[in-house]
This record gives sequence, C-alpha cells and structure tokens, in this order.
Amino acid sequence: MEQEVLNVMPRIGDQAPDFEAVTTKGKIKFSEFAKDKWVVLFSHPADFTPVCTTEMSGFALNKKKFEELNTELIGLSIDSIHSHLAWVNNVKEKTGVFFDFPIIADIDMKVSKLYGMLQPNESETAAVRAVFFIDPSKKIRLIMYYPLNVGRNMDEILRALEALQVSDKYGVALPLNWKKGERVIVPPPKNLDEMQERINGKYDEKIDFYLVKKDLK
Ligand code: BEZ
Repeated sequence: MEQEVLNVMPRIGDQAPDFEAVTTKGKIKFSEFAKDKWVVLFSHPADFTPVCTTEMSGFALNKKKFEELNTELIGLSIDSIHSHLAWVNNVKEKTGVFFDFPIIADIDMKVSKLYGMLQPNESETAAVRAVFFIDPSKKIRLIMYYPLNVGRNMDEILRALEALQVSDKYGVALPLNWKKGERVIVPPPKNLDEMQERINGKYDEKIDFYLVKKDLK
C-alpha cells in the first residue's frame, strides 16, 4: 500500500490533489487556497541547507513578479513547523530576505507523497525539488523535478509561467527559449482547411504551413 502511494505521480492535465496542511501562514485547504489565481507549489529537501536557502530566497525576492502574474507561491518540505519558523526567522536576520509565503510543514510526508515529491531512489526522507504550475481551475499545467544537489532556475520558472498564461490567453504555442515580446507560434493545422489558411494567410514569419509565427498585437 505504501509503495502504491509512492508510485502515484501527478501528471500534466490532472486536477491538483487536494489536501489540508499546516503552513507558516496558518492552516490551509488547498482547494480553497488562492481562489481564481495560479499557484506555484514547490518543494525543497530541507530547512537550514544551503541550496534550499538560495532557492527560497529566490522565490521570496521574486514574489512581486509572481503577483504580477496573478500567482501565489506555496513551499513545502518534510520538516516541522518549528523548523520552518526558525529557518524563516534566521534567514531574515542574517540576510534581510523574508519568505513571505506559506511553507507547508509536511512532517508526515502526506503532501509530498500525493505530489510525487518523495522519490525514494533520490531520498527516502527528503522531498526532491519539485515545481507544480497549477492554473486557477486547480489543474496541473507543468511539472519540474530537480534532484537534491541541483538548484532550480528562477528565470525559467517565471518564463514557463508566463508562457502558459500567454498560450491560454491567445491560443498560441511558444517556441524554444521564447520570452515575453517575442513571436509566438500559430498552432499547426488540424485539418485541410486550416492547412490552406496557413498557406494563404498573411503572417509575420512562415517556414511552411506547419511552422508559422506571428507577433502578438
Ligand atoms: C541543500 O539545499 O543544499 C541540500 C539539501 C539536501 C541535500 C543536498 C543539498
């Protein structure tokens, strides 16, 4: 049974599993958290560790950018609430950076297991560095998993979040290394009429009917 729980990995397109948890900002029920907003739910292996401290500081320092993208942050590790509080306070005292978002105290590993953050061949006791991008309907839209010894890239997290939102808003796809302001991809045709439209239509950049780009106006 335990093994079964560990084997359940959430996938892109799934509804984000609901849970109740104790956090540094009080108790939450995830389905009621950040209504009508995007959520970036991320885990780190342990409090009071160096890579995690740089990552959490990165999230904290970029909180305003996430807010501008209508997004709430929520962290998690398999540590107690007392450990979280002491670490948040220590980092604030030492560096002036305040982790001003809820951090889940997942001491019973309930949420980590629910989200596939506990990957036993990497660690049986610490969550890997996961990032879940969850849209306002609480659907999982993108998942990143990093191992314990490699920190994530904040620019890529923000870029991917913005790409998801632009894709939704304009019905377009985003090419390799796309950044805000750059041309977007017109989705490839799904039938002959759409193919003819791509061939005849006026677009900002066209390689062939299957690779058409346009500026967002
Ligand atoms: C770190 O954050 O530095 C770290 C945490 C757990 C294992 C390895 C590194």
